[in-house]
Amino acid sequence: MAWKGLLDAYGDFLPLTEATPRLSLCEGNTPLIPLPRLSEELGITLYVKVEGANPTGSFKDRGMVMAVAKAKEEGSHTIICASTGNTSASAAAYAARAGLRCLVVIPNGKIALGKLAQAAMYGADIFAIDGNFDEALSMVRRLSETAPITLVNSVNPYRIEGQKTAAFEVCDQLGRAPDVLAIPVGNAGNITAYWKGFKEYHEAKGTGLPQMRGFEAEGAAAIVRNQVIEQPETVATAIRIGNPASWKKAVEAANESRGKIDEVSDAEILAAYQRLARTEGVFAEPASCAAIAGVIKQRERNEIERGSLVVAVLTGNGLKDPAIALETAAIEPVVLPNDEQVVLEHLQGVVRT
Ligand code: F0G
Repeated sequence: MAWKGLLDAYGDFLPLTEATPRLSLCEGNTPLIPLPRLSEELGITLYVKVEGANPTGSFKDRGMVMAVAKAKEEGSHTIICASTGNTSASAAAYAARAGLRCLVVIPNGKIALGKLAQAAMYGADIFAIDGNFDEALSMVRRLSETAPITLVNSVNPYRIEGQKTAAFEVCDQLGRAPDVLAIPVGNAGNITAYWKGFKEYHEAKGTGLPQMRGFEAEGAAAIVRNQVIEQPETVATAIRIGNPASWKKAVEAANESRGKIDEVSDAEILAAYQRLARTEGVFAEPASCAAIAGVIKQRERNEIERGSLVVAVLTGNGLKDPAIALETAAIEPVVLPNDEQVVLEHLQGVVRT
């Protein structure tokens, strides 16, 4: 049967009523891809959950379909979010689909080009502040308390409800929960959602529970350091967040699952980003690769046992951030004249060396 999106597929686990519009861009049902080379090199069985295959290229679509459907059900005309990019792209798309207005507040110059292009194309009103994500979030929270506007950041509980479906899919695809679930942590909504999803599915279907391993970027590692980072910095702009809204719930997920919130450096993130693309043919945005970098680091330290079944969540598509890709790859096109003889000589030279 054709896939009709998350509200259709997982309605029994979601807070739907008869009045909830069955909004869909056919989100969810994303591939779980085995990584044979990295698995062998690391001595584990490693899969990636490719959330970049969602309609707007990130996991946000899972939460957004639920949050926007509920906003519509409740009679809202306008939604708002603060964003490091992906939330704004997803909110703008689902608002367009549902016929709602969308306002987004972003840190000026700190969101990847692809994400900005998406919000603009889907017709959002975009406000860029000379501040960071945490400051933008506090502004939109205050505004949504006083104006008739629905906040669709992950502090909206419907976002978490939608996002928990990714854990259901992982269990369905593997036949059980993995031993370890590795995930990047920014505002900490997604780790909260996965843990809720694994617990609910285990209760309903006995699928087991993974250890939750969350990874912050070193320059934005508020939870690891146990202190708010006033000026977070990282190449992974999606997780450039210094005061995560779901901080406590992320710590609970790590503690309850006997997991850990850890950090990885920008150098480790970029190395994993390139290694994933070059050795496995999988291109995910830098923030997503914090999960891969984390698995590599924790295997080296033997914090993940040899032979473990590990799923890393690749939260966003690599095409979101073409500038970092070109910088990291350091491969530039060799420009040649439009002359068959010259082109052939060059190509033959490459093959011979
Ligand atoms: N990976 C990507 C690609 C993201 O865009 C985000 C968050 C995360 C990981 C972290 O998820 O916040 O639930 O811990 N992006 C938000 C945004 C903040 O505005 O797009 P989290």
